Amino acid sequence: MTLISILGIFVFALSSSAFGNVLAPRDLEGCGGSIFVEDAVVIDAPLSANCMWQIKTDENRVLVFTVISAGGNFKQIEEFLSIHDGLGLDSSVLLFENQKVHEVSKKELPEAIYTTGSVAEVRFKKTPTSVFKLKIQKAVDCPFNLGAESQCGRVVDETSCYCATFSKRDQSSQTSYCNSHAMKLWVIESYEEELAIQTVWGTSSYFWTSGTDELSEGMWIWETTGTNLYPGYANWADAEPNDSGGYEDCLYINFSKNGRIGWNDGSCGGLWDAICEAHS
Ligand SMILES: *[C@@H]1O[C@H](CO)[C@@H](O)[C@H](O)[C@H]1NC(C)=O
Ligand SMILES: *[C@@H]1O[C@H](CO)[C@@H](O)[C@H](O)[C@H]1NC(C)=O
Repeated sequence: MTLISILGIFVFALSSSAFGNVLAPRDLEGCGGSIFVEDAVVIDAPLSANCMWQIKTDENRVLVFTVISAGGNFKQIEEFLSIHDGLGLDSSVLLFENQKVHEVSKKELPEAIYTTGSVAEVRFKKTPTSVFKLKIQKAVDCPFNLGAESQCGRVVDETSCYCATFSKRDQSSQTSYCNSHAMKLWVIESYEEELAIQTVWGTSSYFWTSGTDELSEGMWIWETTGTNLYPGYANWADAEPNDSGGYEDCLYINFSKNGRIGWNDGSCGGLWDAICEAHS
């Protein structure tokens, strides 16, 4: 008889093996067990109390918990379980109300609890009276800023982190700046992502991205990922890119167009702010 079921939603970067879709509980007769979070895992609230899960993810990542059903609300489930920041009896309990929310984080994101490290323990202490699931994802840590003249937030989703630096530098210096903080200069992948950035940081500013056609005129690539810009999302301003004077090889975003977003090609030596990003 199985009291618990675990559904693992795994996305392996390099493997598309169907084997990765379901994670068998280590111990089907008891409850709880050990889980390694590759990307995301969903656990059902158990039908009995005294279940304990030990959860780990990659060493340099953190874990983020969200509630599925129960109104997505931690208030309604905190009497049934506790989420601990680490393993062991003396690890502190993480409470939703104690989580610091970045000023610029996306307001529509679900309630989430973050660990400070790569391990956590979930202890079900009381039999839940209603059905709910706990979603556990791997996330990058997100600082409040990267020092003076910068600001960070969970701007797009609950597992990634974006930081804006308001110190103007040329494009390659902004690349180095992001890298020195274990982040990457921005790759704009979709209109939603672009709009999310514009919503928090887009008041009359210009930001470097990692787009460039420096190697071959007109062959735009995202330097951060080495991928071609085309086919893919693009949002050039009218009559851009125009390679003015033959020296405009780097892509910055111009948010100053009265709410309408537009990309422009500029000299890579131009001094603009920048957006850094990190993903789990
Ligand atoms: C190219 O675009 C720039 C703005 O980036 C503009 O100042 C310039 O006049 C344009 N040049 C041509 C030849 O259209
Ligand atoms: C940004 O867009 C506005 C509106 O089109 C334009 O007037 C301005 O020259 C652009 N600025 C830069 C630096 O590309």
